[in-house]
Amino acid sequence: WLSTSCSSLLLLFWLNKCSKKPQLQKNKHPILQPLSCLFVSIKGMSKDRMIEIRRQNCNPMTMKVTYYKKPVFIHQGYMQWLWDVDGRRYLDLFAGVATVSVGHCHPKVTAAAEQQLKKLWHTTSIYVYPTLHEYCEKLASHFPDPLKVIYLTNSGSESNDLAILMARLHTGNNDIITLRSKFFLFYMTNKGILLILPHMQISLLFSWTMCPDVFRGPWGGSHCRDSPVQTIRECTCAQGHCMANEQYIAQLKETFATSVPNRIAAFFGEPIQGVGGAVQYPKNYLKDAYKLVRERGGICVADEVQTGFGRTGSHFWGFQGHDVIPDMVTMAKGIGNGFPMGAVVTTPEIAASFAKGLHFNTFGGNPLACAVASSVLDTIREDDTQQNSLRVGTYLMTELAKLRDKYEIIGDVRGKGLQIGVEMVRDKASRDPLPPEAMAEIFEDVKDMGVLIGKGAIYGQTFRIKPPMCITKEDVDFFMAVFDKSVRNYMERR
Ligand SMILES: Cc1ncc(COP(=O)(O)O)c(C=O)c1O
Repeated sequence: WLSTSCSSLLLLFWLNKCSKKPQLQKNKHPILQPLSCLFVSIKGMSKDRMIEIRRQNCNPMTMKVTYYKKPVFIHQGYMQWLWDVDGRRYLDLFAGVATVSVGHCHPKVTAAAEQQLKKLWHTTSIYVYPTLHEYCEKLASHFPDPLKVIYLTNSGSESNDLAILMARLHTGNNDIITLRSKFFLFYMTNKGILLILPHMQISLLFSWTMCPDVFRGPWGGSHCRDSPVQTIRECTCAQGHCMANEQYIAQLKETFATSVPNRIAAFFGEPIQGVGGAVQYPKNYLKDAYKLVRERGGICVADEVQTGFGRTGSHFWGFQGHDVIPDMVTMAKGIGNGFPMGAVVTTPEIAASFAKGLHFNTFGGNPLACAVASSVLDTIREDDTQQNSLRVGTYLMTELAKLRDKYEIIGDVRGKGLQIGVEMVRDKASRDPLPPEAMAEIFEDVKDMGVLIGKGAIYGQTFRIKPPMCITKEDVDFFMAVFDKSVRNYMERR
């Protein structure tokens, strides 16, 4: 129903008509009313049956990640909105984990997919076809020199897997260093599988260094990070000097001295952490870390799976905000606005080392994915989504900072553009994480009032906000009213 341009036009008209935000009534949940004009009712499987199948026939992990006490049964989406099977509308501030970049079923991207579907779904890279070449050239034009050689994959895990393999082949070294965070990521090289093993120590191939978290970590101050909002911690650092950065870099040096051989293969880091809870490092951390890594023969990999494609607002890529140029960049999620796709970009020199072997990927760079991803790049430019991320994201963080000052349990607000974290605490003095049950209560309340957000960080104490980049200031105002009410509800209940 959303798929013809005619219905898209009607939809836009209706959306305009129906997108008035509901007024918050005192002591009443402002649950969004079903929007019958937009919602196409379905005679599908019952909710109970879906949960039964989920329990019996689906990967058991899907039950674990069913976030809510009363789960959300999604039926359809449009731009920043989702509708459940009963027609209830939600403002989506999580975007399927930072993945829907330009908007659910964006008419332009949908049209590009439709066109390609009618022409050619699949062929392999054995043959030469225009979509792949058009896309590689277009994507490469978004990177500074010497990052010009593109490998197309199907996911972020596959991209990181490939990056590890390339780093090892290029350097002849084995060890990978990354930052400690909620998840220990263990890539089974060559198989393209990412296992996420929480709270397990794996010491075979990876080493972890202390995460330079200037809010929760041992060091941090009042102007460490590149964000419109700084931590509540105080420091005496003079302008341009960051004691916290020096301490965290000293930790990295300690890791080099004690945990890895003299020569390493690679350092992986996200410009702003995703699952880790939007943790931002001190301003010069990545720059200093890259220097140390390169002195040890390693290559520097920026994982832009969450931060890429304009999400951080100030730049197209998160690494640009750190004033570094990595040797390799991995990406996925927002690249296809929800279409499964990933990529790695690297230098001709590293690509030449890899060319000594053979690399082939059946689906990576298939015509459909390339047509969609190419349209996503065009749409980011035409809709000015990067600028929107900056403008709306900065507004959102500034408003959230006011709530942080109002409530004892909101410890930190951070991020850039539309990659935002709100860290919840028992109290500001201890910075102890707000317990999971309390997080779950607020989370459920926000959902019941019509907004979807995410959760993450080491103790699950950080709300994660990473919406489709088309959200507006009005959406922010609505979310702020909902979030304020949910936190107030919790404070009154406890
Ligand atoms: C930073 C980062 N890198 C890699 C991945 C893995 O991506 P995918 O789920 O597409 O395999 C994720 C997934 O959330 C991620 O957040």
